[in-house]
Amino acid sequence: MLMRHGPKNYDRSSRGRCLSTTMLLYLLLGLPRIKGDDVAAYVDAFPSPIPHCDMRGLPPAALSCVHLAPDGSLVHAKDLRSTAGSAKQMLMDMHLRGVVGKLRASHRLPGRWVSFLSVYTASGPATKRNYPVVGIGKRDPRQPGLLMPNPFFVAPDWWDWYSRRTQAVARKREFDKRRDVLLFRGACGPGGHERLKLMRLGTLNGAVDAGWTSVDGYTDLETCVADLSNQLGAKRRKRDSELSTRVPMVNYSHYRYLLHMPGSATGSYSRNLQYLWSHGAVVLIWRHDALEWYYPFLRDGVHYVSVDETDLERKLVELRRDPERRRRLVAGGAAFFEAHLRGDRLVDRWRRLFDGLAAGQSDTPPLVSQSAACSCDAGMAAYASCEKCEITRKRGNTVAKFLGLIPKRPPAAPAVEHRVHAG
Ligand SMILES: *[C@@H]1O[C@H](CO)[C@@H](O)[C@H](O)[C@H]1NC(C)=O
Repeated sequence: MLMRHGPKNYDRSSRGRCLSTTMLLYLLLGLPRIKGDDVAAYVDAFPSPIPHCDMRGLPPAALSCVHLAPDGSLVHAKDLRSTAGSAKQMLMDMHLRGVVGKLRASHRLPGRWVSFLSVYTASGPATKRNYPVVGIGKRDPRQPGLLMPNPFFVAPDWWDWYSRRTQAVARKREFDKRRDVLLFRGACGPGGHERLKLMRLGTLNGAVDAGWTSVDGYTDLETCVADLSNQLGAKRRKRDSELSTRVPMVNYSHYRYLLHMPGSATGSYSRNLQYLWSHGAVVLIWRHDALEWYYPFLRDGVHYVSVDETDLERKLVELRRDPERRRRLVAGGAAFFEAHLRGDRLVDRWRRLFDGLAAGQSDTPPLVSQSAACSCDAGMAAYASCEKCEITRKRGNTVAKFLGLIPKRPPAAPAVEHRVHAG
């Protein structure tokens, strides 16, 4: 609408009118969007110039500066090697490498050095710093830092390939022929209190199929459930610590309803949610405070249905007898995915961060310890190769197996295993 005012109309009087129209439009349409642009708001809050990321004084934890070179190469100021978070660091390298490839192809690379601290823990950034800090989730929305896509999206092209394939499988499974059941599978871990509450609800007369598939952070499931029950002040029941059959993700579209729970490690975000939108099912989300960057755009009753132990039963009963509402929710979830979670949307979010940093940070090479820093880029010969660079070279189904989305072996005996932390 604003485009209609061509340069010809730009005499003083019409310009005045044009500006007030602009103001009005901003008030009506623009401000909410500007307010929703948390990337710009985050970058704008820094004084100029924005300092570069600096490892000095940081605790030994799953965090490292990421430096993006003018040519799009990536330098990690600290190689997490075999410590916690190392797989996520390499998946983030893969993610950013894919983003950089897209930006290069569209001539949108910043072409200057930019840097930020990347926090790989699921619980999120804990400390505000004078340079930009990026997290993948926050257990508490009041934590500092900017939320960006978690590395489990892998490269944007891989993500589009994987999710389109999932959608294609789901389309073949007619909704009305699916199991009229809510599915949840997940690990037991130190942050699994809400998951235990779900398990303790039982099947709700056959409407719920929820179960543990593995254990994270405890020696065995028994100990995990005992500890969580203790903390909840709940009486132990034998059935609470039974392992369930694994349901491979390709089977998720046999179900009408899929449930998302907060993560097992700390009760923060869980990457599970990003996989649930592509199965043509109604998505239910257990109420929790944790955040990823896209949660503020989710609308209860439009894209998903919020539940917890107080109303899961009632809401499932309602859904199971309202086909029209189910249809709207399935369509709403799919529309949400298209609007916010496709590969090009991820690229767009990074581009806004990179552009903001490029405008505010000085164009200087990183000050890093040569012995600690690493890169998986051939062009970065000045830095050591990261210990786990081979992760960044996985492709296609090998990535899906690495992430546990495709079973590595026939899903016969569920077992305690050391997986990539789902977060
Ligand atoms: C997955 O679905 C297939 C049919 O598509 C079925 O044969 C198999 O038993 C299912 N596996 C599980 C663990 O549900």
